[in-house]
Amino acid sequence: MTTYRIAPSILSADFARLGEEVRNVVAAGADMIHFDVMDNHYVPNLTIGPLVCEAIRPHVDVPIDVHLMVKPVDRIIPDFAKAGANIISFHPEGSEHIDRTLQLIREHGCKAGLVLNPGTPLHILEHVMDRLDLILLMSVNPGFGGQSFIPHTLKKIAAVRKLIDASGRDIMLQVDGGVKIDNIAEIAAAGADTFVAGSAIFGKADYRSVINDMRAELAKV
Ligand code: DX5
Ligand code: ZN
Repeated sequence: MTTYRIAPSILSADFARLGEEVRNVVAAGADMIHFDVMDNHYVPNLTIGPLVCEAIRPHVDVPIDVHLMVKPVDRIIPDFAKAGANIISFHPEGSEHIDRTLQLIREHGCKAGLVLNPGTPLHILEHVMDRLDLILLMSVNPGFGGQSFIPHTLKKIAAVRKLIDASGRDIMLQVDGGVKIDNIAEIAAAGADTFVAGSAIFGKADYRSVINDMRAELAKV
């Protein structure tokens, strides 16, 4: 049986009350905290860095899953590892040497992930599968929460599921962007096991009810 993980993105949380927000969402059943880092260079938005990761670390005991939308990416990786990140993923466009960046993340004791935008081809995965703990498929173009899921992503998820299964490796397949209660089942059916959801969870008053509804949908897959 597939283990499904729900990873609320704090991009849609109330940043003025972030400690309370992450505590509440973990109490509501979140499996990890998705931490979106944007640099106003690789993506046209600016969010949060290692200081904020360090600040929320004592508030939660689940993994902190850092999604770096940053270019260049290498210099900031040790800082996030030190700040308590457990998983660090990056976009290949943010690194001159993907293999080296993946090694750097693991050398710092974190799980390593590669993030593919809707337009990024899958062949980039071919020679780095054994360096990956996670593959993140973007189902929106990165930079903003609250966008709509791009339906073509479903085919891409199915293709990556085949690659992971063929590799025989334990690699999480995460999907990020426009994930809601009403589409999570088809995303899971396509082969995803880890679901980032920002506005769908933090945009609602009752986090537990959204997460429970998502799990109920996943139970149908
Ligand atoms: C977008 C971010 C996402 C975003 C998801 O660049 O990587 O994690 O917060 O937000 P929703 O779930 O609202 O699409
Ligand atoms: Zn993200």
